[in-house]
Amino acid sequence: MAHEDLREWISALERAGELKRIKTEVDPILEITEITDRVSKSAMGTARSGGPALLFENVKGYAGIPVLINQFGSERRMRLALDVESLDEIAARIHQFIDVKSPQGLLDKVKMLPMLAEMGKFFPKTVSTGPCKELIKKNGFSLLDFPVLQCWPKDAGRFITLPCVITRDPKTGKRNTGMYRMQVYDSTTAGMHWQRQKIGAEHYREALRAAQAVTADDKRSAAVDIMARTGGGSVLAERPRPSGKMEAAVAIGTDPPLTFSAIIPAPPDIEEFMIAGFLRQSPVELVKCETVDLEVPANAEIVLEGYLELDELRTEGPFGDHTGFYSLADEYPVFHVTCITHRKNPIYATTIVGKPPMEDAWMGKAVERIFLPLMRVTIPELVDVNLPVDGVFHNLMIVSIRKSYPGQARKVMNAIWSLGQAMFTKVIMVVDEDVNVQDLREITLKVLNHIDPERDIQFMLGPVDSLDHASRLPNFGSKMGIDATRKWSTEGFNRPWPDEILMDAKTKALVDKKWKELGIE
Ligand SMILES: Cc1cc2nc3c(=O)[nH]c(=O)nc-3n(C[C@H](O)[C@H](O)[C@H](O)COP(=O)(O)O)c2cc1C
Repeated sequence: MAHEDLREWISALERAGELKRIKTEVDPILEITEITDRVSKSAMGTARSGGPALLFENVKGYAGIPVLINQFGSERRMRLALDVESLDEIAARIHQFIDVKSPQGLLDKVKMLPMLAEMGKFFPKTVSTGPCKELIKKNGFSLLDFPVLQCWPKDAGRFITLPCVITRDPKTGKRNTGMYRMQVYDSTTAGMHWQRQKIGAEHYREALRAAQAVTADDKRSAAVDIMARTGGGSVLAERPRPSGKMEAAVAIGTDPPLTFSAIIPAPPDIEEFMIAGFLRQSPVELVKCETVDLEVPANAEIVLEGYLELDELRTEGPFGDHTGFYSLADEYPVFHVTCITHRKNPIYATTIVGKPPMEDAWMGKAVERIFLPLMRVTIPELVDVNLPVDGVFHNLMIVSIRKSYPGQARKVMNAIWSLGQAMFTKVIMVVDEDVNVQDLREITLKVLNHIDPERDIQFMLGPVDSLDHASRLPNFGSKMGIDATRKWSTEGFNRPWPDEILMDAKTKALVDKKWKELGIE
């Protein structure tokens, strides 16, 4: 079973030689970033790539509150976090659930029992109390009681960067956990940076729709106004706004599968608590909040409870982002804290993003591996996928396909652009199944050799990532697909397609035998 809470995880990291405790005093303003950035980029291309996790035990102004960073920052740590030998194990477990056939007889039914027992572990259970309630503060608290980082020099301020934000769909009652950074404005308020297309933002719009339904006609257009703004549209004339609140809670410093589940682009109807249960292979324990009608992970180090006013947006950012550039300031809702609960001597878990590779690169790679079998449900011809780290995940996706009919590469591009957060992919390259998408040298050679650019490039207009600073409008722009598969006569290509240069097996074997004798090495 995976690690029970953040503390068990820290001990496991230490036992595995994957944690460095730092006793020298460091400043949460910029200094922790500079240290972590150097560590993240250390030993690149080796087994130690990504450096160790860091536990800063002497943070200036925050005696007794250590800062954990880079906990997911290597391939090995990602595997340890999810308690697997290989990330493909998780993909295989998912595949087993997708691939269920109707049982043919009693024996088949009996064979399914372990799977049903395993499914029982996915569901979260609510318990009466937990470690996150060791201290309950309904007054006199401050967000700045915790060593929240200012990451980069031109950041608008200090940002909570690893929060699991929990909201409830006002219509269905289902809960969502998403990781959305929070800019600390003062002791009790913070920006809630859920991008327009994310599920937390949709819950907010649902709450607005509900408020709209109960407001008088003259206020209706006001609700539409703020809806457009939370959807990134133009700001209409100022009018009275719908009143109301939406509750939210934020867990900081949970067990690793739970933290990881918050970044998974799961469909809206699947609660991340269940995904975490699946990854941990044990149910997530939840406790009720003190001041809002939500449940939070019992094992969290720190919990922020609060609400967002439906008529309040405030400038958030700029923030040094995972694109390697500062994401631009924009308007986002404001989270008001009503209560903070935390463990005694809490550990503050955080991360930094910036020029890749950083900790989030390894988290993204894990998402890539885990999502492959799920992508294959709608794109069965998909063989492999690579989101190169320097493509910052939404800029470049390379996929290989088993091509069976003309135009299939374009069908695959459209399918990817229709697939949840893959809609943001700025460039999709499609290659044949015999091309290794994980080998960027092979990709450069084959993609560029195989295309006639005017013929093989497909442009598409649609939603783009909020962090895209080059798009014609915020959140809306163009995307490009490159069909680098071999072209067929049925696609109008009537020239011969040349063979790839490969030495024959007999000559290779002959040279293998003689290699030492040649004295070259
Ligand atoms: C370190 C880190 C920080 C992130 N910050 C944000 C953010 O500020 N806003 C956002 O919309 N997505 C952010 N993301 C991506 C979301 O967590 C991701 O899209 C997730 O699937 C959102 O959850 P949802 O699908 O439940 O909306 C971040 C991801 C990571 C790894």
